Amino acid sequence: MSDLDTLRTRALQAAQQAYAPYSRLRVGAALRSTAGQVYTGCNVENASYTLGNCAERAAIAAAVQAEGAGFRLAAIAVTAFDSAGDVLPISPCGGCRQALVEFGEDATVSFRQPDAQWLEVTAGALLPHRFSFPER
Ligand code: THU
Repeated sequence: MSDLDTLRTRALQAAQQAYAPYSRLRVGAALRSTAGQVYTGCNVENASYTLGNCAERAAIAAAVQAEGAGFRLAAIAVTAFDSAGDVLPISPCGGCRQALVEFGEDATVSFRQPDAQWLEVTAGALLPHRFSFPER
């Protein structure tokens, strides 16, 4: 199994752990750090909708918790399925894109397109003209 296939499988497993009673969209993310470890995350919603967390940022939080400030992102796969169990296309939201480039502009990001094919792009390509902390 290729490295990305492993992440795709782990992302699907993570999505099964999601707490998504409002959107009913279960999202899972699995990333590999440049240190070679895999971390996963799922979305966790809240009755106060804006307090919900995305799967990608949950996986990043797990990675930083484990590896500390030196964590760097090598690759991440994101997948989602609905309440019927059907896999749906998903693309990382804008906030998660900013979080991904923080840890690896050249990291591979893989997610399903509407035709069900997995797309692979770099995190940097997903967020042109992004915010970066201004030099003083
Ligand atoms: N969601 C993610 O987990 N990741 C994304 O990149 C996009 C959206 C979640 C948040 C919310 O629980 C549900 O999907 C519907 O927006």
